[in-house]
Amino acid sequence: MTNTLRQPEIDIDLFSAEVVADPFPVLARVRALGPVVYAPRYDFYVLTRYQDVRAATGNWRSLTSAQGVALTEEFNQQLVGSVLASDPPEHGALRAVLSDKLAPRGLARTREQISDYAHRLVAEMVARGTFDGVADIARVYPVNVIGDLVGLPAEGRETLQPGADATFAGFGPFNDYVMEHLPQLMTYTEWMGTMADRSKLTPGSWGEAVMDAVDDGRLTQLAAIKTLSAYLVAGLDTTVNAIGALLRLLADRPDVWAALKADGRLGPQIFEEVLRLETPVIGFFRVANREVTIGESVIAAGAKVMLHWAAANRDPAKYPDPDAFDIGRNPLDHLAFGYGPHACTGQGLARMEAAVLLEALVAQAGAFELTGEPVRGRNPVVRGYESVPLRVVPG
Ligand code: HEM
Repeated sequence: MTNTLRQPEIDIDLFSAEVVADPFPVLARVRALGPVVYAPRYDFYVLTRYQDVRAATGNWRSLTSAQGVALTEEFNQQLVGSVLASDPPEHGALRAVLSDKLAPRGLARTREQISDYAHRLVAEMVARGTFDGVADIARVYPVNVIGDLVGLPAEGRETLQPGADATFAGFGPFNDYVMEHLPQLMTYTEWMGTMADRSKLTPGSWGEAVMDAVDDGRLTQLAAIKTLSAYLVAGLDTTVNAIGALLRLLADRPDVWAALKADGRLGPQIFEEVLRLETPVIGFFRVANREVTIGESVIAAGAKVMLHWAAANRDPAKYPDPDAFDIGRNPLDHLAFGYGPHACTGQGLARMEAAVLLEALVAQAGAFELTGEPVRGRNPVVRGYESVPLRVVPG
C-alpha cells in the first residue's frame, strides 16, 4: 500500500527517540496537515484529531482489529486470536472470560485487599523518606496487584514489568528500542508459557477462571496463554506508566498536592487529567477492510491506520489549552482507555488502583516533592517515566 490517494504526508519517524522524547509539537503539525496523514516511512495513515480518532476507534466494521493491532506482520501473528486482535462476535466470547471479575461488583471484592497493600507500600516509603516513584511504587504496586489477581506465584513476577514494557514496544516498528529489549521479551514469554497451568494458579483467581474456560471448551490452551498474557501486559505497563506520571505531577505541582490534601475526593479527577495529558498507550493500529472516508479524505481498503490516542487527547478543538494540566477539567471522555468494543476492560481496576494509592498518600504523606529531575522513558509506544526521585515527609 502506498499513498495512492495523495493524502498529506509527514516524513518523520513518529517512533524515533527524538519524537518519543518530545512528541506533542510534531503531533500538532500532523494534526494541522489534515484529518488523515500518510507516514511513508512505515507505510501507514495516522489519525490525530479527537473526533476522528474516537469515531475510528469505535468503527470496528470498517477498521478491523482481527488482523492485529500492531504495525508489523511478525508481531500481529502473535496477537491474532487474542481479545485485542479480534472482532465481534469472536471478540465478545474472549472478552467475556474475565468480564465478571472486572465489572464493578467483581472489583469491589478486591478493593480492601488493594487498599491495604497501597497503605503498606506508602507507609514503607514515608518511613524511608526518599525513594524513586517509578522503581519503588509505580513498578511494584500494579505488578503485585495484577500478579495476585491473576493468581501467579511470587517467584518470576520480576519478569512481568520488563516483559510488558518490551511487548508494548513491539506494537511499533522493530527499531533499536525493541532490539535492545528482546531478551526481556523472551524471558517473559518463556515464563508465561508455563503459567497456563492450574497447579500454578491460586484458587479463585482470574487465572483459574481462564483455565475453567479451557476445561469447558470456550478457549483452547493456546488462547488461554494469549488471554492471560493480554491481561498481564495490558494491565501492567499501562498502569505503571500512569502511576509514575501521577506521582510526578503531584510532586511537581505543590498547588495540586495541596488541593488534594485539602479534599481527597479530587483524586479521581486528577488521575483522569493525568491520563488525558500523558496517555500511556499512545496508539494502536487497525486495518481498513473497506474504503473509509473521513471528512474529505479517503483511506483505501487494505491500508494500515494508526489511531493516535495521545494526539487526540491534546486536540485543542476538543480540550482548550490542551497542554496544560487543569484540575477542574475532569475529562472523562478522553481516549486513554480507547473507545468502543475494545475499550479497556481494566479501566475500572486502573482507576481503583490510582484512587486507593492517592487515598494512602493523602492519609500518610505531608510534603511531597521532587529531589531531582525526573527521567522520561524511551519506550516508543508506552509513554511514561524511567525515574521520578521523590521525598515525602509524614503528615
Ligand atoms: C492506566 C491504565 C491503562 C491504560 C491507559 C489502558 C489502555 C488501554 C487501551 C487504549 C485499550 C484499547 C486497545 C484497542 O482499542 O486496541 C485497552 C484495552 C485493554 N486493556 Fe487496558 N489500559 C489500562 C489498564 C488496564 C488494566 C489494569 C487491565 C487489566 C486488568 C487492562 C486490560 C485491557 C485489556 C484486556 C484490553 C483489551 C480489551 C479488548 O480488546 O476488548 N488494561 N487498554
